[in-house]
Amino acid sequence: MKITKAVFPVAGLGTRFLPATKASPKEMLTVVDKPLIQYAVEEAIEAGINELIFVTSTHKRAIEDHFDKNFELEYNLEQKGKLDLLETVRNILPADVNCAYIRQKEALGLGHAVLCAKPLVGNEPFAVLLADDLIDNANGKGALLQMMEQYYYQKCGVIAVQEVFKKDTGSYGIVKTRADNSIQAIVEKPKPESAPSTNAVVGRYILPGEIFDYLEKIPKGAGGEIQLTDAIAKLVESQRLVAYHFDGTRYDCGDKLGFLIANFELAARDKVLGKKFMAHVESMLKNIKQG
Ligand code: G1P
Repeated sequence: MKITKAVFPVAGLGTRFLPATKASPKEMLTVVDKPLIQYAVEEAIEAGINELIFVTSTHKRAIEDHFDKNFELEYNLEQKGKLDLLETVRNILPADVNCAYIRQKEALGLGHAVLCAKPLVGNEPFAVLLADDLIDNANGKGALLQMMEQYYYQKCGVIAVQEVFKKDTGSYGIVKTRADNSIQAIVEKPKPESAPSTNAVVGRYILPGEIFDYLEKIPKGAGGEIQLTDAIAKLVESQRLVAYHFDGTRYDCGDKLGFLIANFELAARDKVLGKKFMAHVESMLKNIKQG
């Protein structure tokens, strides 16, 4: 079955980035010149998605506005002959891509956020992208496109994973896989001593519609929240799901350091800014060394 829908849980408060996120969504924080959410949306569109479902909360209007038409701005840019910028603003979404917004009324966890999208997804397979995880694959296919190819080839759900240090398992969903990469078990944020492996879930999932049946039934899990991981753990008891090691670099933009590293590395590679930016960095390092 062709996958056309992607869910973007964007209801989180972003407290780690206060005061920046006091009045604007953390998903609108920019890496070089684009908000985090736009990177995730572009990755989804590259993978063939044309229905974007955002699970939002209060103070997330900026996300809706970002993907909507801005007549005033477009008129202004046109009048001033700033046609390049006009194109950039107009082409944020291709014409055949639609957005839908649904509210998560209470912050009950990632699993609950995904469940909120059920009325818009229905009973079909869909993708989930967490914008906090920026995945860059500068010269190749985006992570979701790679996963989509796996989905069509393996004919089952796919979850993105990457190897992490044992000391860090407590920050991730951790999977135990069989020789064919199918998931045998998955645990949310286990302590290093009880983690079944060091294969950590990264924020990209392709899930069958049946996941909603489990999300409706599972009790609160780690951190007192309804965890997507717990529903997946139940699902894999009756359905095959594979873990997929994608090609690309993942930046943890839910964390200040990861966010700064993403900005640094993407700025260094930027076609327009890269050279000047790195010249500045080099002179700065020289000054530091000279004391
Ligand atoms: C969520 C998931 C976790 C996953 C992580 C990836 O956790 O619950 O399983 O490994 O995203 O970024 P969060 O980072 O929202 O605490």
